[in-house]
Amino acid sequence: MSIIEKAINKLEKEVGSKAIHNVKRKRPQPAVNTTIKADVSEEANISEKVVDHFQVNRISHDKPLPTTASPNYINIDLERLHQLGIVTPNQGKTQIAEQFRIIKRPLLTKAFAKKNNNLIMISSALAGEGKSFCAVNLAMSIASEMDHRVLLIDADVARPSIPNLLDIENQAGLMDILIGKSGDVSDVLIKTNVEKLSLIMSGTAHSHATELLASQTMAILLEELAQRYNDRIVVFDAPPILLTSEARVLPERMGQIVLVVEAEQTTQQALNQVINQFSSKANISLIYNKVKTFASGEYCGYYYS
Ligand SMILES: Nc1ncnc2c1ncn2[C@@H]1O[C@H](COP(=O)(O)OP(=O)(O)OP(=O)(O)O)[C@@H](O)[C@H]1O
Ligand SMILES: [Mg+2]
Repeated sequence: MSIIEKAINKLEKEVGSKAIHNVKRKRPQPAVNTTIKADVSEEANISEKVVDHFQVNRISHDKPLPTTASPNYINIDLERLHQLGIVTPNQGKTQIAEQFRIIKRPLLTKAFAKKNNNLIMISSALAGEGKSFCAVNLAMSIASEMDHRVLLIDADVARPSIPNLLDIENQAGLMDILIGKSGDVSDVLIKTNVEKLSLIMSGTAHSHATELLASQTMAILLEELAQRYNDRIVVFDAPPILLTSEARVLPERMGQIVLVVEAEQTTQQALNQVINQFSSKANISLIYNKVKTFASGEYCGYYYS
């Protein structure tokens, strides 16, 4: 039994019906021995939809410091991000870096195996479960280790989190392309001081955001992102699926969907409701986020005895 399987066993025993204790495990895929194939619900018949299953511990962090922003190039305060528990380049072997190294591998393997698989949407059932935290960590992890170029898109157009998380101003972005205010992806693409990381912000808020995300223009944009940037991973920080209509139109156009499940918070029912909305062909992975540890810095101590 892998350490993650042991962790899930213990999670089931300790948190009872509130958490996702009905998750049943199968043996990991042979090629990816750090992941678990999760059979989330028998009666909902969704086991085939979940491909991989990971864990991220709850980290503790200090207060952030401000930084500056300018159009088309942003200097991200990496020291501040490091304090927030986010993966940054050259930070050495931290717990969070190790966890996202494990998480990104199968996503990267699949990213170039099939058309559009380089489009990876990070979402969750409800608010505050850690979508943006995981989206930024995943993007940083991929960019930091010189694996691939990454484009991080703030697709949470109603309540964008990326500006707060990176401590930068929102500016023209996704919505501006969709309403025709910005002509081209390159007009809104922002380079950063992390060489392989670019950003597209959510842009101007719009009352018809859902229709715009469901529009043909969005389909063309995603096609362009998948093709023109086919050497690059595109990570979408998406809105929560059960709370917004915007999030429901995105998954069918994504190559991979990563659902963030908050330890001891996300219910089995909410998770089932989300997964049941996806097509049987959807490529879904789960991240168990905010998993408590005994002592900060101890690698996954809480669940491994
Ligand atoms: N593994 C973690 N350890 C510690 N704190 C975390 C972790 N994951 C997320 N958080 C914190 O939880 C809060 C919510 O996270 P985040 O903003 O990423 O959630 P979200 O799902 O994007 O929320 P929203 O639905 O509002 O966009 C933030 O304060 C974030 O720093
Ligand atoms: Mg968010």
